[in-house]
Order: sequence, then C-alpha cells, then structure tokens
Amino acid sequence: MKHTKVKDLLNSTTTLQEINAKGWVRTFRNNQFIALNDGSTINNIQCVVDFENTPDETLKRITTGAAVSVTGTLVESQGAGQKYEIQVKQLEILGDSDAEKFPMQPKKHSLEFLRENAHLRVRTNAFGAIMRVRSVLAHAVHTYFQEKGFVYVNTPIITGSDAEGAGEMFKVTALPFDNTPRTEEGKVDYKKDFFGKETNLTVSGQLEGETFAMALGQIYTFGPTFRAENSNTSRHLAEFWMIEPEVAFNDLEDNMDLAEDFIQFVIKYVMDKCPEDLKFLEGRLLEEEKSKPQAERSEMALLEKLNFVLENNFKRVSYTEAIDILRNSTPNKKKKFQYIINEWGADLQSEHERYLVEKHFKCPVILFDYPANIKAFYMRLNDNTEPGKETVRAMDILFPGIGEIVGGSQREERFDVLVEKMKALGIDEEELWWYLDTRRFGSAVHSGFGLGFERLVLFVTGMTNIRDVIPFPRTPGSAEF
Ligand code: 4AD
Ligand code: MG
Repeated sequence: MKHTKVKDLLNSTTTLQEINAKGWVRTFRNNQFIALNDGSTINNIQCVVDFENTPDETLKRITTGAAVSVTGTLVESQGAGQKYEIQVKQLEILGDSDAEKFPMQPKKHSLEFLRENAHLRVRTNAFGAIMRVRSVLAHAVHTYFQEKGFVYVNTPIITGSDAEGAGEMFKVTALPFDNTPRTEEGKVDYKKDFFGKETNLTVSGQLEGETFAMALGQIYTFGPTFRAENSNTSRHLAEFWMIEPEVAFNDLEDNMDLAEDFIQFVIKYVMDKCPEDLKFLEGRLLEEEKSKPQAERSEMALLEKLNFVLENNFKRVSYTEAIDILRNSTPNKKKKFQYIINEWGADLQSEHERYLVEKHFKCPVILFDYPANIKAFYMRLNDNTEPGKETVRAMDILFPGIGEIVGGSQREERFDVLVEKMKALGIDEEELWWYLDTRRFGSAVHSGFGLGFERLVLFVTGMTNIRDVIPFPRTPGSAEF
C-alpha cells in the first residue's frame, strides 16, 4: 500500500478508511500516542496505538527517532490541537532507534550541539522548517527570473580567474605535494598540472555571467561559490550559494530597482507558501530572545519584519552621505566603534553598516557610489569625479540584523578605462583576454549584482548564525559531513 504524506492527511477534507503513513517517531506517550513526523510539514500526526492488542516487544520499539509504518483509518481527533488522527490497525517498525543513544531527544538542544549533529538536526522542528523555507526560497529565485525571461546560466566552478581580485581562493590542483614539479626559478610549475595552468574554486560567476548577458540580454546564475577568507563570523561561510543576475543595457538605477523588486518578490513568495514554518520560526525567535537583555531584542517579530521589507522602499544613500552620518554619529564620537570613521575613503565595517540600517535609517539601505579604491576592478568609474576622490557605480544592500546582503555594480564598459584600471591593480590582461573581448566587440552599459543566498535565508528565518541555514556548513577549521 502506498503511503500518504502527513501533510496531505492533515489537510484532508474527510475522514478516510485504510491509509498508510510512514515517518519517524518524535514522541510516544502513555504507550498509546505516537507523534509522527515525515518532514512534509512542521506538524506531526497523532497515531493512536491499540496498546492492548499490540505485543509488548513492539510497544518497546516505538522510541524517539524510530522509523515506523502505520496503517489504519484517518478519524476526527478527540483530543485538542489536531483535526485528524490515525487510529492504528497495523504497526510496523521499519528501523529501530536506541532511545539511550539517539542524540535528538524530545527536549531543547543548543544550536552548537545541533551543529555538531548536522546530519540529524534536520529531524528537529526548527531545522525541518529552515530547510523547507530554504528550498522554497530557491524555487522563488528561479520563479522570479524565469517569469521575467532571464536565462539561467551555469558558470564554471573551477576557474582560472579571480573575479573579485581579492585573492581569497581555494586552489584546485592534481599536483603531488611531495615532489612538486618546479620551474627553473623554483616556482610550482602549473604547466604540469591537470589543466596546464593555475586554477581555483570560483569566488563568483560574474565575469562569465557578463559574457552571457552580452549575448542573451538578461541572465542569472545560482550556484555554489567559495572563499578562503579566514573570517570566523556568523555571516561568513567558506562555501556559500550566490545568485548573480546580469543585465545588458541596465544602469545602476535599474540595477537597484531589480534588486529591490527581486528581494521583495522572494520574501512575499515564501510568506505565501510557508506560513506554518514561518510562524514556528517566529515563535522560536521570540523564545530565544527572552534570554537576551531588552536592548538586544528585535523591535519587530519575524513576520512583522518581513512585511516591513515588503511595504517599505529601501532607502538609497550615497557613500559620501553615509560617511557624514557615521562621522557625526554618537558611537563614532564616543569611540564606541572598533574602527573610527575619520575621513572619506574609509572602508565600511559591519558595525558601521549595522548602525546605518538598525539605528539610523531603521530600514533596508542601498549604499551607492563608493570610493573606487575600496571596490573591485570591474566597476564603472563615475564621470566627473574629483581626482583623488574617484567613485565607482557600486551598490551594496544592507539589511537589519544581517549587514551586507547584496553587492553589485554597473560595469566598466569602456575598454580603455577598464584596461587602465587592470594595469593599475596588476591584473593580468592576458589572463582575462576573453573578458576584455566583451568590451572589444559590441560593448554596452550593463549591470548586475550578487545576493548571498544564506544571508537571505538568515533574514527570512530569523536565525542569527549562517551555519544554521545551510545543510552542512563549511567554515575555517570545520568541514565535517
Ligand atoms: O559583494 P560580493 O563579494 O560581490 C561579488 O562577488 C560580485 N561578483 C557580485 C556581482 O556583482 N555579480 O558578494 C556578493 C554577496 C554579498 O553581498 C554577500 O551577501 C554574499 O555574497 N557573500 C557571502 N555570503 C556568505 N559567506 C561569505 N563568505 C560571503 N561573501 C559574500
Ligand atoms: Mg561585497
């Protein structure tokens, strides 16, 4: 007999004869009531066991974590809290779970403990909800772009270029570590390596994405990216997923409009599709915040915060305005910032970004027109900027509780300006010959951005550590599972 998902049973419009459900036991009360979960919904279905006619050996094997199959009738529940329950006629233990040893006990576990058991944490309510929300958000991303006619591009994971020019890359090599082939100068001879050149895991699909935008018009990528930056923070992963749309003929304004519309769409989508999971996560957050001092608690509950993003435009502020605000801010004057903002040109740290979003504007903020020398080589130099105070058409979107969620820009479409910039930064023109071809043949204004998928999932789920919104996090010193 084919089993029915718990979600469908709970949503049934009538009682049903002869159904079968399969799942994992969450709890077993009074030798009679199984709370069964199969991952299709946050809700368990109650299965009522006829304990008088069930052998003792079987009853003993109904333990938290065990996989079971129940056959019976779907009846209206006598108890409070659920509409239907299963009157069990036949019960089969599919897989035992030693109650003494199963780590996911029906009690509160710390997030740290759950991280160490990432293969089992998904059997808890919170992680089931987070991972379903993550999945629906991924679908929302594709739905948004596909409905708008964007082409999904799979950019390579192994590349020869450093798209961000930040040098934070994991090397990909098939060379042996002992007896490494060397050139006459004693350097590693990558000509003898698998690809005949130095390669790494991609930090961004942007450069390849640009070549596709200059043919297909509107494209997006959605794939894994890798950064060997040694930042052990609650916002950084060594392996994370990025969404990178790139659009021909879009300028920076269009780029900001696209990013804002996109983020609002995906949040709305997940609010429509995952009301129960989000409600659960809202409750979880409230509970977690009870242990924090009042000043550190969020002003809004989760759903209110999500609605706020839907209903309010993001505040657009130039870097120069932001620096003025920060320079005159109380934490700057009282030297409460770890990095004091003294002058124009300073790079913004997350403490500054969070001050702007959470304390000053109290809404999502788009900062634009950054100093050229703190941003990547490919960004469009602004016309008419003062020498020594050159700015580029960059934008970062900052979110409450998250900081930077999006980084993007209008691209430098002028061949000569781009080459000059690369020379100044010591970026090899030969290496990026194919990228420069986009500026040689039919160049045009174009723009794009990258959204860190896990940072979006963090925001939507109200979780506070990025390690808790990706199935198996990779961070400095940690690559278990
Ligand atoms: O600002 P970033 O470095 O921009 C780029 O990579 C551009 N090539 C994007 C583009 O214009 N197509 O990264 C984009 C976003 C950040 O805003 C952040 O949300 C996320 O990627 N991100 C990370 N997320 C998790 N862990 C990390 N280590 C991240 N680094 C960046
Ligand atoms: Mg950035």
